[in-house]
Amino acid sequence: MNTILSVKDLGIAFGGNKVLDSINFTVGEGEVLGIMGPNGAGKTVLLNIISGILKADHGEIIFQGENILKEKITERTAKGIGRTFQVPRAFEHMSVYENILASVVYGQRVSEKEARKKALEILELVKLDDRANEPAGKLRLINRKRLEIGAALASDPKLLLLDEVAGGLTSAEVAEILDIVKTIKAKGVSIIWIEHIIKTLMEGTDRIMLMAGGKDLITDTPQEVMKSSIVNEVYMGADEDD
Ligand SMILES: Nc1ncnc2c1ncn2[C@@H]1O[C@H](COP(=O)(O)OP(=O)(O)OP(=O)(O)O)[C@@H](O)[C@H]1O
Ligand SMILES: [Mg+2]
Repeated sequence: MNTILSVKDLGIAFGGNKVLDSINFTVGEGEVLGIMGPNGAGKTVLLNIISGILKADHGEIIFQGENILKEKITERTAKGIGRTFQVPRAFEHMSVYENILASVVYGQRVSEKEARKKALEILELVKLDDRANEPAGKLRLINRKRLEIGAALASDPKLLLLDEVAGGLTSAEVAEILDIVKTIKAKGVSIIWIEHIIKTLMEGTDRIMLMAGGKDLITDTPQEVMKSSIVNEVYMGADEDD
């Protein structure tokens, strides 16, 4: 598998608070890499650095063979990095369709006709086509998550960063999000998926990275990660001898 993203020795501190010490991992083309870790582990900060919102103190981000660490958010979007936000953001008074259309127009240089076609394709993919004309502000959580994923797809990303898109949903709703992620993966898009729900990561990812204490503690297949004592140590605060 070719590598689409390679993160090396990434670190960031806020004041004296070293949130990321040294993070190292790769994502393969077409791969879904899950990221788990306790609250405050720096998972969102990591996505913010990859998407260009935050600047790392040290490290490298190689995307498709190029170090993109110095590039602006818009340049990274144009190169193929798309993301969702942990707290869904939408233009509340605009319709679902208008929200997606606005993202497409912002994310790609296409004609109005093409933008409209693209927006409809995305609505279908995230299964919001039957709510196209509803104001985004009236959507319930699952549909806001769908809209958030749709907006991230508007720039036609090669690498999609998902930040807790299944958080707060019922298990039936989580299954619907899993389906959407699988459809996106089937299109060849590489994905980094932060999630707290272990079951979701087990079903929806090819490998999982566990982050804690500013470091990547283990990155392996979901089965191997779950078997590892490191997971227990991180979440239970216990080691093998306890
Ligand atoms: N812009 C910022 N300035 C200062 N501190 C920040 C900033 N962004 C994040 N932090 C701090 O970095 C730490 C990690 O935050 P982050 O949001 O990445 O955690 P997380 O792993 O995503 O947690 P959760 O699972 O709760 O979403 C927290 O202590 C947070 O307060
Ligand atoms: Mg977070």
